[in-house]
Amino acid sequence: MLIREANLTDAPAIAKVHVDAWRTTYRNLMPAEFLADLSYEAREKMWIKIFSNMAEFNFTYVAENEIGQIVGFASGGQERTGDRLYQGELYAIYILENYQRQGLGHRLISTVAKRLLQSDISSMLVWVLADNPASRFYQSLGGQQVNQKQVEIGTVQLVEVAYAWTDTRTGLI
Ligand SMILES: CC(C)(COP(=O)(O)OP(=O)(O)OC[C@H]1O[C@@H](n2cnc3c(N)ncnc32)[C@H](O)[C@@H]1OP(=O)(O)O)[C@@H](O)C(=O)NCCC(=O)NCCS
Repeated sequence: MLIREANLTDAPAIAKVHVDAWRTTYRNLMPAEFLADLSYEAREKMWIKIFSNMAEFNFTYVAENEIGQIVGFASGGQERTGDRLYQGELYAIYILENYQRQGLGHRLISTVAKRLLQSDISSMLVWVLADNPASRFYQSLGGQQVNQKQVEIGTVQLVEVAYAWTDTRTGLI
């Protein structure tokens, strides 16, 4: 499995993984109609925009299987709200269901943390839906729950929690 930095030409493949993984991950957390309405085209436009407006400290990495198909991605950069304690943020990490629990998530999050370190950022946080099993992924890598907030997704109100590392070099990388 290869992990490499993504670019604009990856937008369609990343969009497909994004939508497919949302549908499997959130099937018990979000309304079925909302998930059915997600579209590859809309996500692709979103990713084209992201790649076109990439700030200096924002980046995306993809994981490719042995035949070059993108099966997961992670994106990160500077924390988006100006948090005083945590300077870096993992914005998103999604792996297709068939490729989960094979160590790929750990490799991707650690790649993001290492990239932040290159910019002297050693603290990081990530927001995750409270009921998402991914919480246990972050806990297993030493993330501490530091915050929570309500978010509206589709038509439902959900709780998101923030997991954070004061120093990603302890446990994550
Ligand atoms: C969450 C996710 C990125 C983790 O990546 P992964 O490749 O599946 O995880 P890894 O194989 O690297 O797991 C490392 C450790 O984390 C823990 N872990 C990972 N997923 C877990 C889960 N669903 N439940 C409990 N523990 C989990 C385990 O301790 C695991 O080690 P083990 O498999 O030896 O027990 C991936 O499962 C995924 O894309 N899930 C769907 C999308 C999602 O929820 N994204 C996060 C949105 S904030």
